[in-house]
Amino acid sequence: MLKGSGGFSSGNPGSASGTGEELQLSDRQYRLWAEMLENKTGVRIASHRDDFVRRQIVRRVQELGFGDVEDYFREVSQPGRGTREWGVLLDRLLVKESQFFRHQASHDFFKHRLKCHLQSTSREQRYSVCSVGCSTGEEVYSLAMGAFDSYRSADQEAAFSIVGIDVSVEAIQAARQGIYTNRHLEAVPGSFLNDYFDATTNNTMAVKAELKRRTGFFVSNMFDENCPGLASPVDVIFCQNVLIYLKNWRRRDLLNSFVDKLKPGGCLIVGPGELNDWQPAGLSRVAYPGIQAFEKLLPKGISLERDEHEDET
Ligand SMILES: C[S@@+](CC[C@H](N)C(=O)[O-])C[C@H]1O[C@@H](n2cnc3c(N)ncnc32)[C@H](O)[C@@H]1O
Repeated sequence: MLKGSGGFSSGNPGSASGTGEELQLSDRQYRLWAEMLENKTGVRIASHRDDFVRRQIVRRVQELGFGDVEDYFREVSQPGRGTREWGVLLDRLLVKESQFFRHQASHDFFKHRLKCHLQSTSREQRYSVCSVGCSTGEEVYSLAMGAFDSYRSADQEAAFSIVGIDVSVEAIQAARQGIYTNRHLEAVPGSFLNDYFDATTNNTMAVKAELKRRTGFFVSNMFDENCPGLASPVDVIFCQNVLIYLKNWRRRDLLNSFVDKLKPGGCLIVGPGELNDWQPAGLSRVAYPGIQAFEKLLPKGISLERDEHEDET
């Protein structure tokens, strides 16, 4: 597609295409990209990010020296060959912002559930957790630190694994590396910093091997039926600040698909306010202050929540 025929619109001089014109996406082209992003990942571009996304696509077209944005679109759409390039572009378009202990009440609830598990008859079983849309690893490492703490408080040997999945290759590489700036680590309690991080150079700290051994990270699409981390049923699916980017029907499809991936008694923890009144069939809403979580019903007569007074009798 050439300029003037719905392809690039003209602007100031200085483009990488050598035509002396600045590249821009037409509205039609932009819609095609936005649709591709949504079809492949579920993510809908918020209108306030339109200009940013347009600029990223144009920049990539220029970097690769494509003479036409439609050629680049065709390249990325190629099965196989286009997959790698799609991954590069995707990394620039997604919002990957994350923090340690981002929603404290959800982490408190996670520890509460693990404590119940450690008091139950199923405590011998390894506790398995999947963080969906884990970005650069903060969520997974926060859960792992909380889990270690729970096992220690219960005076039991740690037996858990936490897997993070994300569609972004760069995010997963950073998560595996596990190096964070001191500023980024401000939300991590001092005792956890001492126990689970080593100081490195340049105002950064690195996750210790003990924490890494309990965690794993995979590049994967959460809509993929064979998503690693959810290959067999888990105790907890933690999915926060991901659903907000999806249309309601996709949120529902995704959460419905999680039901089979939870063990009976397992929990789905989403961000507060990420769902309204709807809840997936087969799960019941958990009453716990300040959080939004659902639990998969246990066979009749069995409860995970332990009677506080059980030991007194
Ligand atoms: C805003 S971050 C949230 C990170 C973390 N959960 C937190 O709350 O701090 C959203 C993450 O979801 C990931 N994501 C978006 N669509 C995805 C998909 N289809 N499959 C897997 N991850 C996806 C993005 O790459 C991004 O890293």
